Amino acid sequence: MTDTTKTAAEQDRVLIFDTTLRDGEQSPGATMTHDEKLEIAALLDEMGVDIIEAGFPIASEGDFDAVSAIAKQSRNATICGLARANYKDIDRCWEAVKHAKSPRIHTFIGTSPLHRAIPNLDMDQMAERIHDTVSHARNLCDNIQWSPMDATRTEHDYLCRVVEIAIKAGATTINIPDTVGYTAPRESADLIRMLLERVPGADTVVFATHCHNDLGMATANALAAVEAGARQIECTINGLGERAGNTALEEVVMALKVRNDIMPFRTGIDTTKIMNISRKVAAVSGFPVQFNKAIVGKNAFAHESGIHQDGMLKNAQTFEIMRPADVGLADTSLVMGKHSGRAALRAKLKDLGYDLADNQLNDVFVRFKALADRKKEVYDDDIVALIQDQVTSA
Ligand code: KIV
Ligand code: ZN
Repeated sequence: MTDTTKTAAEQDRVLIFDTTLRDGEQSPGATMTHDEKLEIAALLDEMGVDIIEAGFPIASEGDFDAVSAIAKQSRNATICGLARANYKDIDRCWEAVKHAKSPRIHTFIGTSPLHRAIPNLDMDQMAERIHDTVSHARNLCDNIQWSPMDATRTEHDYLCRVVEIAIKAGATTINIPDTVGYTAPRESADLIRMLLERVPGADTVVFATHCHNDLGMATANALAAVEAGARQIECTINGLGERAGNTALEEVVMALKVRNDIMPFRTGIDTTKIMNISRKVAAVSGFPVQFNKAIVGKNAFAHESGIHQDGMLKNAQTFEIMRPADVGLADTSLVMGKHSGRAALRAKLKDLGYDLADNQLNDVFVRFKALADRKKEVYDDDIVALIQDQVTSA
């Protein structure tokens, strides 16, 4: 077994498998250049991601080159490539990842009735294909991940049968994809529990969860799977990915950190690197982060209302469950707008170098409110102008 699978044997350790460069790049319009991919991979490696899915080597020469280059540069992470269930894909994938200190081949096939109809294989023919392709991959590499695509819409008896075949053929990680974001948290947990109970040999492999966000439940589904026994979460930076995206790395990692009291699992991620890589992925993919996105949105650590700002000035924990520094942000931002109160204005003026007496503050506050009613956000320069007006008119 490989180092990553050994680590996962520790019961509370959850492996983080990042697929920003594969599933993330599959978002229409998110194509990244070779150099951009190398830069993102270096940041993922540095922040402690356990497995980087670097691309789909058979998809294009460019993907092949990027996966090989990432395999050569990676220092700590296992480097994984994706391959469909055929020898040509698997051989090409191996050629690309074999340079890594710790390479992994990830091979998959759609197992639900809808997906079985595409290659027109019946259940027995598909089972045979899984046996042959996983065995072939295992002859090349000792670290094999196998995924039954659309697992959450696959008949349970058939899912158990094919997972058992993949394990016997040499898979070391079994990934359970919710390919179309169809499952819900309780079902996600029940599925992992069912596989762990029913499949012979299930205790010898790592189970992974791979959730899409079509119903906005990807993070909840991934965490539920972990509580049921999955020990690898597949995710992307900023939740980038097909359609509504994948589980967001920053969300699952911070949820496990902040709510460790009720979810006692650990990852190896240095969370202070989150903000930097989030900005980088947004810039190179051309997918801006929505303002109110959990953890990495512009407003995730910003407060405008007077009650919140006053609370924050007295004790940050009143309205913040994480410290901005934990995700690599310098500080909370108190946004000055029409909901801001006197305490926040006084604090802002102090930051800007003005210590006003109460009557002066009252006057500036009245004019600040009038301005805030006309403008969405009042900037530092606007506040300085208000003070200077006051000095000139006094
Ligand atoms: O969503 C999915 O099923 C996938 C597989 C290739 C694992 O991305
Ligand atoms: Zn996916």
